[in-house]
Amino acid sequence: MSSLFVKFYLKLCGVIPGFRKITRKWMYQLMARFIKQDQWSFMNYGYALINGEVKPILDSSDEVNRLSFQLYHHLANEIKLEDKSLLEIGSGRGGGASMIKKYHKPGTMVGLDYSGNAVKLCNKNHGRDGLSFVEGDAENLPFNYETFDAVINVESSHCYESMNRFLGEVKKVLKPGGHFLFTDFRYSYEMDELEKQLTDSEMIIMKKRDITPNVVQALDEDHDRRMADISKSIPKLFANQFREFAGVKESVVYKQFANRELIYISYILQKQ
Ligand SMILES: C[S@@+](CC[C@H](N)C(=O)[O-])C[C@H]1O[C@@H](n2cnc3c(N)ncnc32)[C@H](O)[C@@H]1O
Repeated sequence: MSSLFVKFYLKLCGVIPGFRKITRKWMYQLMARFIKQDQWSFMNYGYALINGEVKPILDSSDEVNRLSFQLYHHLANEIKLEDKSLLEIGSGRGGGASMIKKYHKPGTMVGLDYSGNAVKLCNKNHGRDGLSFVEGDAENLPFNYETFDAVINVESSHCYESMNRFLGEVKKVLKPGGHFLFTDFRYSYEMDELEKQLTDSEMIIMKKRDITPNVVQALDEDHDRRMADISKSIPKLFANQFREFAGVKESVVYKQFANRELIYISYILQKQ
């Protein structure tokens, strides 16, 4: 029953992007309002290292977030961010921005999210010198032209109403020569459209990778922790929905990644 409901909801989201944008906003607002635990600071599916990729060295207190951070790190490691100005669009609960600031050392980092509740939580839990969070819409950014050296966007764009509008905004706020570090998932039948949207943005595609195997392995490795967190923190009434959201092994989304109906992709682009 619950998986039928999830499939129906995802279908509706595919057909009506405005409905997807609004319902996801409610969901993120409610989660930030009612689940305040500061140890829950990421909301992505994670990235496991395969084929001999080099393991980033983390403090022991950050090990719990290794898989989720690695989804950021595999992008951030492609360019030199030290002392640069970096914007994250869709910063969620702030763990990604906080660890990027700590390990990749941009001079300034701003996280933006359309959930005002998440932004408040982030400023309280992660705000510090050189790292702040603001409320705003990815499709209408509240920044001047050519403000940032780089923009990072992790597992957020699937919520947007218009990818073209979003890419126009990214290009606007990037300085010439600036980089756009992008990763997210799409249905396999949407991949050509995504490639066209990125090409039409007139930023240059420097690198492209299908990271679906890394994400599936991360979900496998993280399954027990995700299940335990949900039993511990989420009321029984919502546990099924959260297992779907978390991508545990029985979930629709996990199966779609495993059979490649859903593809997780990452791109490095550069503004000329
Ligand atoms: C799956 S979460 C990922 C959060 C974070 N990047 C991470 O990896 O933990 C997606 C985030 O994108 C944000 N988001 C979705 N649509 C947005 C929009 N139009 N403008 C700004 N943020 C948006 C949501 O509020 C949510 O925090």
